[in-house]
Amino acid sequence: MARQVGILTGGGDCPGLNAVIRAVTRRCLARGDEVVAVREGWRGLVEGRFHPLGPREISGILPRGGTIIGTSRTNPYKLEGGVERALGHFESQGLDALVAIGGEDTLGVAARLHDEKGLPVVGVPKTIDNDLSATDYTFGFDTAVSIATEAIDRLHTTAESHNRVMVVEVMGRHTGWIAVMSGIAGGADVILIPEQPVSVEDACEEISRRHDRGKNFSIVVVSEGYELTYASGEKRRVEQAPAPADQFGHVRLGGVGEVLAREIEERTGYETRVTVLGHIQRGGSPTPRDRVLATRYGLKAADLVHARRWGTMAALHGDEIVEVPLRDAVAAEKTVPADWYDVARAFFG
Ligand code: F6P
Repeated sequence: MARQVGILTGGGDCPGLNAVIRAVTRRCLARGDEVVAVREGWRGLVEGRFHPLGPREISGILPRGGTIIGTSRTNPYKLEGGVERALGHFESQGLDALVAIGGEDTLGVAARLHDEKGLPVVGVPKTIDNDLSATDYTFGFDTAVSIATEAIDRLHTTAESHNRVMVVEVMGRHTGWIAVMSGIAGGADVILIPEQPVSVEDACEEISRRHDRGKNFSIVVVSEGYELTYASGEKRRVEQAPAPADQFGHVRLGGVGEVLAREIEERTGYETRVTVLGHIQRGGSPTPRDRVLATRYGLKAADLVHARRWGTMAALHGDEIVEVPLRDAVAAEKTVPADWYDVARAFFG
């Protein structure tokens, strides 16, 4: 008998979501199963918003950014009766399985619903931040790094023409993956990330040393989650105000680049400008690497559904797509290891 497989995308969108939707749908349909979109992440399950996905819906979506089935940061555990309503709609819609595509928040809900309520769910690791454990890389990250790297390349030429320091603020929440990778790829002169609290004084020292060596411009990449750190030991986190925390307790980051640029200009005397890349890093078409990774994840998720491997997630280990427990993926945030930062630091100043 045909199985009904639900699919949802939750949290911040990212390039490659549609490639996963296409791959899951193609493989499920080929097996004679039916696929149903759950609209806008967990909100769609709580509110009972579904529509069928067939060949027509998934045609031409491989290179398209965003998600054709919508997303939200809804947390059923934070809504009155949210969990019961979600489970009720799962039943009444006649779903046999759910594929949840998301980051730590979306997959954290999936892991909990599986462990506590027995929901037949499998996960796919998505986020431009690459901060999910149990997988080497999430899809969307490569595209974000490509966009940030191109921006750094472009800023180099204008920085050089004007003898300026250019501060580039990138996303990543509380991890510095995008900053480190794009900074290495773009040849940044200083990279500041949450995991390695290099002080503002040391960053300025690197810039001054570089200018003393005859260079008349510098590129500084700062991750939005970097806390301004001072030699005195004082720390300062910059958030957007007023911005209430979302249903997963996340504050809205952003703005550290502006404060840092002012500090650099005052302390070094070099003219400094700031560029905040923001949601540009999440928009548009996925890179070929992300399209391929997302496709492989989607096929694996469909296979996990077929094998009834509930409570698992498709993951990348080396070059292999493997199965891992969902719980392992959300147990801890994956931070940038010191040896990756050492690669970046070798080119500071
Ligand atoms: O998690 C992805 C991400 O883009 C983070 O890098 C960023 O801090 C956050 O989402 C922004 O969220 P929103 O789209 O709600 O502004």
